[in-house]
Amino acid sequence: MATRLRPTPRTLRMLVRIGIALVAIAALVVAPVLYASQPSFLARYSNLSAPYKAWTTSTHKDVACESCHVPPTVVARAAFSARMLGEYYLSLVSSSRELDVLRPPTNASCQPCHADLVSVSPSGDLKIPHRAHVDVLKMSCVECHDYAVHEKNAKGTHVPPMTACLTCHDGKRAKSACTTCHTAKAAPDTHKATDWVVVHPLQQTGGECAKCHAWTKNWCADCHFRRPASHSTDWRKKHATAVKGRRNCEACHPASFCVRCHGVVPQLNYNPATKLVK
Ligand code: HEC
Ligand code: HEC
Ligand code: HEC
Ligand code: HEC
Ligand code: HEC
Ligand code: HEC
Ligand code: HEC
Ligand code: HEC
Ligand code: HEC
Repeated sequence: MATRLRPTPRTLRMLVRIGIALVAIAALVVAPVLYASQPSFLARYSNLSAPYKAWTTSTHKDVACESCHVPPTVVARAAFSARMLGEYYLSLVSSSRELDVLRPPTNASCQPCHADLVSVSPSGDLKIPHRAHVDVLKMSCVECHDYAVHEKNAKGTHVPPMTACLTCHDGKRAKSACTTCHTAKAAPDTHKATDWVVVHPLQQTGGECAKCHAWTKNWCADCHFRRPASHSTDWRKKHATAVKGRRNCEACHPASFCVRCHGVVPQLNYNPATKLVK
């Protein structure tokens, strides 16, 4: 019994060789792969240093680059490891190159961590039917969440900006009324006044209008870029009457606009107390 358990010198030599081989693999393959897959290793590449830096301050700073940028399949992850092994040894002899192993994130990368998607934003104001857009319309997460990690939107947050929605929600392809998406931005009672479009420049009080209208930086002027409802199809005929009231057409139109058709600046019956915004 005892003799059978005692290893012969031959098996002992074999075990020692296997041990040495394992240590060598660990030292020459596993450790370099682990080391080279660290996000901090990727920071040395000239095209990745900026995305790396932004990542360190994002909500996803504990999520490795490959979790989002390498497809979550065994083959793709193995190919990534093999490539990073080569990159480790290359890095010993050359520096400051570009690296092109990262792929744009797909839904398959995000979904393992984000299976339950909200249908109302944390603030409660915004309706966001994720399932309708992801499952039915087959949108990719980054179409809306391109600011999620490395960049900030114009407001300085990682949240998808409203402009990302308006490409489709233009009133034709999909609904565009404010209440389609917002629960707290329905037009208030002030707006029901029949002369609201005339008096609104005088009604602004500290920040109150901004709560609903400041989704662009120059919100007064940006709204004035849009053709207003008063400008119906027979507006060319009707605008003559509108000018007769105390209307401030200059809020949106420079005099040169009227000159185009009239040749001269028409009589403008404007109210000098009104703050004009173009
Ligand atoms: C949580 C997911 C996530 C993680 C983790 C992540 N990224 Fe990204 N990355 C994105 C998204 C989303 C984009 C934007 C894709 C788009 O706009 O199409 C992006 C874009 C990029 C781009 C394209 C260039 C650019 O800035 O637009 C590079 C390069 C990049 N990431 C590198 C990295 C590196 C390096 C790391 C690790 C330090 C990393 N990413 C970690 C999600 C991630
Ligand atoms: C390895 C897991 C993991 C992956 C992969 C991942 N995330 Fe996240 N994500 C998180 C964690 C953890 C948070 C922290 C907030 C939380 O508690 O849910 C988060 C937060 C978020 C938030 C909330 C806003 C914020 O910044 O706090 C958004 C939006 C988001 N992730 C989008 C994405 C998108 C889009 C992808 C794919 C490109 C992605 N995530 C991939 C783990 C992950
Ligand atoms: C149609 C645009 C759109 C698409 C497509 C989309 N999202 Fe969102 N997502 C949003 C908006 C808008 C918010 C709300 C942001 C806010 O106000 O904080 C949000 C919020 C989130 C949050 C944060 C919720 C929280 O509790 O903080 C996560 C996580 C998230 N989305 C993940 C994803 C993932 C993963 C995908 C792809 C499977 C995806 N989203 C696709 C628009 C989209
Ligand atoms: C690729 C185009 C596309 C983009 C981008 C998009 N949507 Fe949509 N959305 C649709 C379509 C199509 C519908 C269904 C038709 C409709 O309701 O008008 C829809 C429906 C909705 C609905 C339900 C409307 C209802 O009451 O029936 C909400 C809410 C919504 N989207 C919010 C958003 C938000 C918020 C964003 C941006 C973060 C966004 N969508 C971006 C195409 C888009
Ligand atoms: C298709 C969906 C959609 C429609 C329609 C829409 N919004 Fe938004 N809105 C968004 C998203 C997404 C954001 C970004 C969320 C954030 O910044 O927290 C946003 C942000 C805003 C903000 C800045 C954030 C805040 O709450 O202070 C304002 C103001 C705003 N919207 C007003 C409006 C008004 C007014 C209308 C109608 C003219 C409108 N929105 C129509 C989706 C929409
Ligand atoms: C609670 C949200 C909310 C507040 C606060 C608010 N508005 Fe509005 N406003 C709206 C909505 C919703 C509309 C309809 C816009 C649309 O569908 O394009 C609107 C429309 C308007 C219009 C266009 C009217 C028309 O008939 O075309 C003007 C002008 C306007 N608002 C000015 C203001 C001013 C100035 C203030 C501040 C005194 C203000 N609003 C405060 C939500 C609001
Ligand atoms: C929601 C869109 C919207 C916003 C936001 C908005 N306006 Fe207007 N503005 C209009 C419309 C619509 C008219 C009237 C066009 C018409 O029918 O003649 C108008 C007309 C005006 C006029 C001319 C008034 C008159 O006598 O006819 C002035 C001045 C003006 N706006 C100033 C402002 C200022 C200042 C702000 C920002 C505090 C602002 N507007 C924000 C849509 C807007
Ligand atoms: C809120 C902004 C705004 C105000 C205020 C405004 N307009 Fe306009 N108007 C527009 C826009 C936007 C267009 C479209 C311009 C274009 O297509 O180049 C337009 C077009 C016109 C046209 C061209 C006719 C047509 O059918 O295309 C005339 C005429 C006109 N406006 C006259 C007036 C007069 C007169 C007033 C004052 C009573 C006025 N507008 C006030 C925004 C405004
Ligand atoms: C697209 C060409 C066009 C533009 C631009 C235009 N108008 Fe006119 N306007 C006309 C026409 C045509 C009439 C005659 C309407 C009718 O009575 O049938 C007219 C008539 C008038 C009248 C009546 C008195 C008169 O001279 O006949 C006034 C006032 C007037 N426009 C003011 C303006 C103002 C102010 C602007 C700039 C904000 C403007 N118009 C821009 C085409 C234009």
